[in-house]
Amino acid sequence: MPGKPKFYVTTPIYYTNGLPHIGHTYTTIVADVIRRYKRMRGYEVVMTTGTDEHGVNVERAAKKAGIPESEFVARMADAWRSLWDELGLTADEFVRTTDLRHVRTVQWLFRLCRENGYVYKGHYTGQYCIYDNAFVTDAKPGDNCPDCGRPLETVTEENYFFKLSAFQKPLLDFYKKNPGFIQPESRRNEIVSFVEGGLKDLSITRTTIRWGIPVPGEEPHVFYVWFDALTAYLSAVDGPEYEKRGMWPADLHLVGKDIIRFHTVYWPAFLMAAMLPVPKQVWAHGWFLMDAAKMSKSKGNVILPRPIANLLGIDALRYFLLREVVFGQDGNFSYDALVTRYNSDLANGLGNLASRTAALIEKTFGGKIPKPGERKPQDEALAQETQAAIGEVLENYENMSFARALEAIWSAIASADKYLTTEQPWALGNSEQEQSRRATILWTTAELLRIVTVLAHPVLPASTAKIWTLLGLPHSVAAVELDGLRWGQLVPGKQLGKAQTLFPRVEKDEAIERIEAMANEERNPAPAAKPAASATPAAAAAAPQAAPEKIGIEDFAKVEMRVGQIKTAERIVGADKLLKLTVDIGTEIRQICAGIAQYYEPEKLIGRKVAVVVNLAPRKLRGVESNGMVIAAAVGPEGRPVLAGFPDEDVEIGARLK
Ligand code: MSP
Repeated sequence: MPGKPKFYVTTPIYYTNGLPHIGHTYTTIVADVIRRYKRMRGYEVVMTTGTDEHGVNVERAAKKAGIPESEFVARMADAWRSLWDELGLTADEFVRTTDLRHVRTVQWLFRLCRENGYVYKGHYTGQYCIYDNAFVTDAKPGDNCPDCGRPLETVTEENYFFKLSAFQKPLLDFYKKNPGFIQPESRRNEIVSFVEGGLKDLSITRTTIRWGIPVPGEEPHVFYVWFDALTAYLSAVDGPEYEKRGMWPADLHLVGKDIIRFHTVYWPAFLMAAMLPVPKQVWAHGWFLMDAAKMSKSKGNVILPRPIANLLGIDALRYFLLREVVFGQDGNFSYDALVTRYNSDLANGLGNLASRTAALIEKTFGGKIPKPGERKPQDEALAQETQAAIGEVLENYENMSFARALEAIWSAIASADKYLTTEQPWALGNSEQEQSRRATILWTTAELLRIVTVLAHPVLPASTAKIWTLLGLPHSVAAVELDGLRWGQLVPGKQLGKAQTLFPRVEKDEAIERIEAMANEERNPAPAAKPAASATPAAAAAAPQAAPEKIGIEDFAKVEMRVGQIKTAERIVGADKLLKLTVDIGTEIRQICAGIAQYYEPEKLIGRKVAVVVNLAPRKLRGVESNGMVIAAAVGPEGRPVLAGFPDEDVEIGARLK
């Protein structure tokens, strides 16, 4: 019997100088959706992710944290890995670039390229961005990095060069022969014209970096970050022994548009030089933006996945990211849109259809899937529409058109809602004929629900598993073969399973506030929970240690509190609980957001003296910058805020609280 066809999908390996945000999570979620989808189509799938632990940034961060590089990257890799586990995104292979299997593979690839005559020694002087680990061609001394905007440094090195120039024609021929290699189409055109413009040889070793994979026998040369990182895809599937594993070449590299060139020019060229098979496809998706800018740690505008998953469930985040933006294009991230979609599509859409259907079957058929009677044209129409949706959804998954696939699924859900509303099974009486009609309606609805549950499974793995149980269906939804999915397979007579909570409705403002509060807490963990050795929140996350119960006076002294006077106060549109204040703290007037809108009238606050924490890092609440914090007691079970104040004496504005 022939084995299953194989499919190998990768995410980029992520830098260890920060923790995953929504952008990284997006790529990893897409890889996971594809993995689940391909498995349901009968493939044996391997999904790889990992950590890129090379370079100056790691050296610096480790120094700042006061720990050896190896320990720093081990903590960070653990933090990435455990976050993926927590989000249900555990990869089949997790490669660290410090893994021995990876080091071996990089050195092997270099040897092959060199033996085949594509490596030579030379000198290189150029403008180098130490943050992006890249020389910037065409930059002059004093320029800033075109990608991150930070100053470039002039660097001269003795390097090993890779003869990239020799691959202009082979690459162009390859793109021509494999028109699907670079996706989407617009990126393909961009890369083709880049390569047509000519390729310069590429330096692939460094002597300016200590923390990297050594070039055997050529120390202090270490490999250039991209020669090292790209090879991780091959190390993950057994590197030099790739033929035995049978997973190489990769079927799909998923990347953000920022790194498409490395994947579609350098990577195939390295592999061609080594005479190894080239991956089948590279798909570059767009960015999730915050206020029209790319999220980045340095801009301080990153959205964290964990708080969203904690409050709304990981499925809600998966659904939102895939539904909101056409795969390949940029999109804006907003909590508002997230919660709106959650309530409308998940709570009121799929969740409501599932619980409504189950409740009706429970009430009128003792919880057993009824046997349908005679079919009316409207039943047939719904059946045909759903059968057609199966084809449409699969085609869209296949083309990576996730938003469209979900649209088609949700249109089937809307049809079911409409069908129930028109057919009104609850209004039918108890005559044999009416009972039979009711049975047909409810079987039809349950069958539609079964089909959308299967189709939505790759995107909503946790909640579709619950609906599967609710419908009392055998095995697991993940085991359903998509190729065999047809209308009419729901077997009558089976008992429904236990009712499950799917997507409880949330109140928008409250949900956003809770997510933001959790995100703030994760970014700035309370001092008591913060390990002493950590220099960054990332390192803190990576280094759980016993938390001291008390803090020393020196810790308290770090918090600077002053007397402030409220100058203006106004409500924030769309945020019921927040007031935007301007507060005079003696040395300046600060804008501060306070969660007191439900208890204080803005006009009555003007002139009031309050206690203010003035050295908190600025943060944004509902898009409004808040630069400090007004102190209040949390009173009663609902935590009603009562502002701390100075009723006894007319204290001076700006006086320090001790
Ligand atoms: N280490 C390199 C990749 C080496 S792969 C051989 C790297 N790492 S990274 O940590 O910067 O991650 C980059 C990837 O994260 C992007 O290619 C993209 O997949 C994802 N994203 C990071 N920010 C993003 C957004 N704001 N939006 C969407 N995805 C983004 O580059």
